[in-house]
This record gives sequence, C-alpha cells and structure tokens, in this order.
Amino acid sequence: MFDFKDQVVIVTGSGSKRGIGRGIANMFAEAGAQVIIADMNE
Ligand SMILES: NC(=O)c1ccc[n+]([C@@H]2O[C@H](COP(=O)([O-])OP(=O)(O)OC[C@H]3O[C@@H](n4cnc5c(N)ncnc54)[C@H](O)[C@@H]3O)[C@@H](O)[C@H]2O)c1
Repeated sequence: MFDFKDQVVIVTGSGSKRGIGRGIANMFAEAGAQVIIADMNE
C-alpha cells in the first residue's frame, strides 16, 4: 500500500451520493494522509 504519512490530500466532490469520494478519502486516510474533504453539497 502507498505511504501518505506527512502528506495532505484534498478530495473534491467527496460528498458524492455514489460514495466514490468517500471511498477515496478513506483510502488516503488509511494510507496515513491528512485528508481535507470538500463538496458543494454539505
Ligand atoms: N460514477 C462512475 O462510474 C465513475 C467512473 C469513473 C470516473 N468517475 C469520476 O469520478 C468522479 C465522481 O463521480 P461521481 O459519480 O461520484 O459523481 P457525482 O456527480 O455523483 O458527484 C460529484 C460530487 O462533486 C460535487 N461537486 C461538483 N462540483 C463541485 C465543485 N465545484 N466544488 C465542490 N464539489 C463539487 C457534487 O456536489 C457531488 O457531490 C467524477 O469526476 C467522475 O467523472 C465516475
């Protein structure tokens, strides 16, 4: 697995109803990243 420790990842469109953004955000968090999520839809 990738190591994203000490790195910041910004996931835009992370509130997608399909869960694609959530899945990507969780994947990066599990890889050690600090994840910033953003979406127009609260
Ligand atoms: N659904 C698929 O099968 C599929 C396959 C391959 C790639 N993709 C890509 O993955 C990405 C997400 O797909 P999806 O199906 O979840 O899309 P979606 O349209 O369901 O979700 C997109 C999200 O982005 C948000 N958004 C749109 N404009 C924004 C802006 N300017 N700032 C912040 N948030 C914004 C929307 O509110 C929404 O929550 C897209 O780029 C799509 O092209 C999707």
